[in-house]
Formats: sequence, C-alpha cells, structure tokens
Amino acid sequence: MKKVLRVLGLLVAGLVFLGACAATFVQVRGIPSYDVPKLKLAPVAYTPARIEHGRRLAMSICASCHFDKKTGRFSGQELKDIPAQFGRFYSANITSDKAHGIGGWTDAQVVTLLRTGIGPDGRIRSVMPSFERLSDEDVLSIVAFLRSGEAEVQPASQTSHVQEPSFFGNVLANTIIQPAELPAKPILQPNPADAVAFGNYLVTSRYKCYDCHSGDILKTDSKNPEKSFGYMGGGSVLQDAEGHDIISRNLTADPETGTGDWTAEQFTQAMKYGKSPNGVLRYPMPKYSLVTDDEARAIFAYLRTVPVIKNATPEDGSAAVAAK
Ligand code: HEC
Ligand code: HEC
Repeated sequence: MKKVLRVLGLLVAGLVFLGACAATFVQVRGIPSYDVPKLKLAPVAYTPARIEHGRRLAMSICASCHFDKKTGRFSGQELKDIPAQFGRFYSANITSDKAHGIGGWTDAQVVTLLRTGIGPDGRIRSVMPSFERLSDEDVLSIVAFLRSGEAEVQPASQTSHVQEPSFFGNVLANTIIQPAELPAKPILQPNPADAVAFGNYLVTSRYKCYDCHSGDILKTDSKNPEKSFGYMGGGSVLQDAEGHDIISRNLTADPETGTGDWTAEQFTQAMKYGKSPNGVLRYPMPKYSLVTDDEARAIFAYLRTVPVIKNATPEDGSAAVAAK
C-alpha cells in the first residue's frame, strides 16, 4: 500500500513538474514566430478600379479594428472588445508611413500577412484574422488601396503598440491560434450572377460573418467554415464596446428564432444600416454601409440554403430563450 502511495506521489510530483515546465515555456516563448512563407507575387497593378474596390473592402472589413476616428486614418487603436482574461491587444498602424506604418513593406509581405498572419519578422499577428480564402482579386485590391495615398491611408506617425497578452492569451497563441497556409492555387471569385455561390463566398471568405454568427467564436473552422459549430445559428458570446457580453444572432432561415420570416429588404437594412426588425444593432456588428445591395441580397439568398438551426437568442424574448 505504502509503495503504491509512493509511486502515486512521484507521479503527481512529475505531473506538477511537467505542468510548471509547460507554463514556463509558454510564458518565456510568448507569442510564437514561424518561418516566413515564400510568396512569389507578380507586380501588383494599382488600377483605379482596384483602389475603389479595395477601399470599400477595407472600410467594411478592416476599419472596425484599424481605423481611428481621432486621426481619420488606419493608424491603429486599442481593441477594447477582447475579454480581459486574454490580455490587452492593439491593432497596428497600417497607413503608408514608412517608419510607423507599413509603407516600408513589400506587396508580397502584406499579402503574406493577410493570407497567413505571419509578418516579415516571422511573428504571428495573433489577433489579426487571416484571410486565407479571400479571392486573389480582393486581396490585391486591398493592397492597391493601402498603397493609394487616399486620405485614410496617408502616413500617420502613431507608433504601433506592443501586444500585452496574459498567460492565457499566450497559451492560446501557442495552441489554438495557428498561422494559415498560403493558398496552393489561385483563388477565383464566384460569378455574382450566381447569387447563392456568391453569397456563400461573401459569408465564408470575404466578410466572414460566420466567425461571429456561429455558435462559438472559439469553435469556428476556418478551413471548412460551413462545418463550424452551430454554423450561422448565432449564440456566440462576444463583447460590446464597453467589454460587456453581447450575443450574436441566428441568421439561418428558422422563422421563429432566425431570419426565415424576413424579406430581403429587411435583411439589407439590418446588414447595411444596423436597422433590424428587432431594433438598432450595436457594436461589434460591423458597419456594412459600403456593401452593395446586390451583395446583401446574395447573402440573403445563400442564407436560405444554409441548414436551419433553431436557436433563440435574447432578441427573441425571454420566453423563447427559456423554451430552449
Ligand atoms: C479583429 C481585428 C482586426 C481586423 C478585422 C483586421 N486586423 Fe489587422 N491587425 C489587428 C491586430 C490586433 C494587429 C496587430 C497584431 C500584432 O502585432 O500582434 C494587426 C496587424 C495588421 C498588420 C501588420 C502591421 C504590423 O506593423 O505588424 C497589417 C498589415 C494588417 N493588420 C492589415 C489588416 C487589413 C488590411 C485588414 C482588413 C482586410 C485587417 N488588418 C483586419 C487586428 C485586426
Ligand atoms: C464582429 C462580429 C460580427 C460580424 C463579423 C458580423 N456580425 Fe452581424 N451581428 C453581430 C452582433 C453582436 C449582432 C447583435 C447586435 C445587437 O445585439 O445589437 C449582430 C446582428 C446581426 C443582424 C441582426 C439579426 C437580428 O435577428 O436582428 C444581422 C442581419 C447581421 N448581424 C448580419 C450580418 C452579416 C450578413 C454579416 C457578414 C456580412 C455579419 N452580420 C457579420 C456581430 C457580427
């Protein structure tokens, strides 16, 4: 008996020691670095059409994190909506300033970062979402806009803040958060005339609505977005601008708890202007006012084809939530 206890005691001591080693490793290692993927990129043509399209995309996708209202530019800011348990995070200055922004980066370095999350120094930008499924044309349009000299990307002298991850944030950066791979072949965009296919692209790859609107933001599947837990059924607990919990909503076609009883026009108003039949939409629902009506209608058409999930969220009323 005594012997068994001693063996058990040794085992426990061993486990505690291993745990402490892993903890020290994570803390010392911090946010990890990777080999910088080698990307061959033909010179990017900064055409007026690309710049205009890229601005529309950047204002819809990147602005909520990178745009600072005080400077009127993409000069970076603290991200207040990340739960404090992960630490404090700051988006970077991505204006064309050579010293403080990304004016000194090559186009290939910017594309590599957007696709994989890995910077020219090898450090993974852990909070920065990677856009591995975005079409080549969309990516190049964003690059063209960042280089364009438009007002929002004019050089700004704000220094990008160093990230301050907590121990838990470091654990995530060393486990769940992994860099994405560079796409093996060109990514073409579906023809907008095929509304369902185009809507699918917008939801899963361009605007990534599924990141927030599925069941749990930590259980999304970036390789196969439609396999994400509770795909588009809402219920993910996010943070509003003051750091309070806010729950994303069910966008599947369930008539009671989703958008099944909405018209395309109601959906467009909610998505573009935050005017939902359930009231005014709050942060962090992004501002999609620059998204075209055709895009909003394509998303609505695609959502009609997504497997229906019955999932009541707070706007459905307390009776509906209690009945779950
Ligand atoms: C959810 C918030 C978020 C969104 C959306 C976002 N970013 Fe970022 N981005 C960040 C954060 C945070 C960092 C800094 C990360 C770090 O240093 O670890 C960053 C870093 C970057 C960097 C690297 C800058 C540097 O100096 O290291 C570039 C370039 C960039 N983002 C471009 C973009 C573009 C273009 C878009 C839109 C297509 C975008 N980001 C969307 C949060 C975001
Ligand atoms: C950063 C997270 C986030 C992203 C990305 C996002 N949403 Fe939302 N969305 C929310 C939140 C949170 C709410 C609820 C806001 C509230 O309670 O005021 C919401 C609400 C909505 C509503 C209202 C639903 C209802 O029942 O009232 C619609 C419609 C909507 N989003 C559509 C979209 C579409 C389409 C996309 C992609 C193009 C998208 N959202 C991307 C977070 C997000």
